[in-house]
Amino acid sequence: MRILSALATAVAAAAAAAGAATSTSSQKVIPVSFGRSTTRQPALHRRAGTYSQELNNNLTGGGYYAQVTVGTPPQTVDLVVDTGSSDVWILDSRADLCRSKTMQNYYGYCLSTYDPSKSSTYSIVSQDEFSIRYVDGSGAEGDYIRDTFSIGGADIEHLQMGLAENSTINSGLLGIGFAANVAALTPYPNIMNLFQDQDLIDIQAYSLYLDDLYAETGTILFGGLDTQKFIGKLKTVDIEPDRTGNYSSFTVALSSLTTTADNGTVTNYTRSVVPVILDSGTTLTYVPYTMANRIYRAFGAVDDTSGTGLVYINCEHLDNKNFTFDFQFGGKDGPVIRVPIDEMVLDNVKAYIELGLEVPSLPFDDICSFGLQGSSDYYLLGDTFLRSAYVVYDLTNKEIGLAQANLNSTESEIVEITKTGIPDASGVASQVSVTQTATGLPSTGNSSPTGTSSSTPSSQSSEGASSKVVPTPSWDVLVLAGVASLSGVMGAGLVML
Ligand SMILES: *[C@@H]1O[C@H](CO)[C@@H](O)[C@H](O)[C@H]1NC(C)=O
Ligand SMILES: *[C@@H]1O[C@H](CO)[C@@H](O)[C@H](O)[C@H]1NC(C)=O
Ligand SMILES: *[C@@H]1O[C@H](CO)[C@@H](O)[C@H](O)[C@H]1NC(C)=O
Ligand SMILES: *[C@@H]1O[C@H](CO)[C@@H](O)[C@H](O)[C@H]1NC(C)=O
Ligand SMILES: *[C@@H]1O[C@H](CO)[C@@H](O)[C@H](O)[C@H]1NC(C)=O
Ligand SMILES: *[C@@H]1O[C@H](CO)[C@@H](O)[C@H](O)[C@H]1NC(C)=O
Ligand SMILES: *[C@@H]1O[C@H](CO)[C@@H](O)[C@H](O)[C@H]1NC(C)=O
Repeated sequence: MRILSALATAVAAAAAAAGAATSTSSQKVIPVSFGRSTTRQPALHRRAGTYSQELNNNLTGGGYYAQVTVGTPPQTVDLVVDTGSSDVWILDSRADLCRSKTMQNYYGYCLSTYDPSKSSTYSIVSQDEFSIRYVDGSGAEGDYIRDTFSIGGADIEHLQMGLAENSTINSGLLGIGFAANVAALTPYPNIMNLFQDQDLIDIQAYSLYLDDLYAETGTILFGGLDTQKFIGKLKTVDIEPDRTGNYSSFTVALSSLTTTADNGTVTNYTRSVVPVILDSGTTLTYVPYTMANRIYRAFGAVDDTSGTGLVYINCEHLDNKNFTFDFQFGGKDGPVIRVPIDEMVLDNVKAYIELGLEVPSLPFDDICSFGLQGSSDYYLLGDTFLRSAYVVYDLTNKEIGLAQANLNSTESEIVEITKTGIPDASGVASQVSVTQTATGLPSTGNSSPTGTSSSTPSSQSSEGASSKVVPTPSWDVLVLAGVASLSGVMGAGLVML
């Protein structure tokens, strides 16, 4: 949800160019967030040269939050982790959203704010120059400021940040993309530059582990990777530059998207390489319409994105427990990530219907929403994809390392990322068994059609697939899932600032 809108145009252009040249790829970013739970202490532990920050998965809020501190004395702020943008910005406690009940009814309660008057290290950089707009139509405006900033045990001095006075997003963002992609007219060193310039990490690199949909926390590790959190070998693919030759987003080449059914049948939905942006700030996954339409047909899904903003799908697909969506990057020998069906078919619609969401007439009664949608201009792999992957972002060497995530892992074995780039690392041999029925994944991807079982029969048998723990629906989720397209449902247009 948090791709910079100017970037989308650039990426679309890059995609078109790549398509013509048959090489390929688009770039994109991933967001990180940290948590705002009052009961949970952020698990911050420092290892040589790496900084680990726990991310809270807010199922109702739809996003991953990182808890950071800003100012002197430190004020605690929760920020959405966003690989799709490059500015760090925080909500001013006096922001319009935080003072207006009417706005909060649309955009959600103001989650976490900062008061510049209470910080002795605050300084203003440029008044009224902060202005950021994301492709979902949301945005924020205010001043650029500087203050001390702390994340995962790392203290970053004089970080330039946006301070939002006007916002349609109810929490600040931690944009950790390329500095070339900052929203400011005057370029400035962003958080990734400062991490390196202040000698906190060797090169600009971090790893992101979102964990299972139902897990409460994920982790972002600056300067390192954790070999206990992935299965098999980490494989790297190149990040693609945009049309001007600059690196502005985490765009990689999606060379194959197939599904593997319980009975082993593989269906290939790929006609050509698609440049996709790995974007942690986006909730769903967006692929070209031609590809999405083929998938909708195969699943009997109904596209109502022009109405309620959702694609509806029969929840009965959740009964195919070993069914996976298999994403391969960078060609035949590239990394494969298998996304289990229950990350893509989301049982989160029924409560909205009770709240008054009017769904179109559908050929099925057991209504779920689809975590994959079509897009005409930019293609994003958001959280519905990213939860199944362990992703290492190396901004310095313009590479992404990918491996199947080892879900629910509680072990940790941290390896530093040094000047030589993403290490040639191997993770665990198979999915950690937290339940007796969890099955292993092949350590490398594309050969075996064996699926991954991420759901347990025991959790299914008593109450049925649709009763699995799912995000408690709330209007907030809908807002986050598709602000623009849902404005009709919400009964009002968007407040564009
Ligand atoms: C998730 O976000 C909602 C508001 O969007 C908030 O009320 C709730 O406390 C959050 N939950 C956690 C675990 O942070
Ligand atoms: C921005 O927010 C301030 C209060 O923080 C408000 O006075 C002003 O009208 C808002 N501007 C816009 C364009 O909404
Ligand atoms: C992008 O690339 C062009 C040409 O290579 C260069 O002139 C320009 O300064 C670059 N922009 C940024 C933001 O790096
Ligand atoms: C899923 O896969 C496991 C292990 O490969 C197998 O034992 C089980 O029977 C499969 N379940 C279905 C419904 O095909
Ligand atoms: C395998 O399952 C799919 C649907 O899950 C079905 O369309 C296909 O016919 C089955 N193939 C075989 C060989 O049973
Ligand atoms: C799916 O088709 C594409 C394009 O023809 C091809 O490059 C890719 O290797 C295929 N995927 C698999 C798993 O065979
Ligand atoms: C991870 O744990 C959650 C519950 O905490 C469970 O629902 C899920 O199936 C587990 N995933 C795997 C792959 O074991």
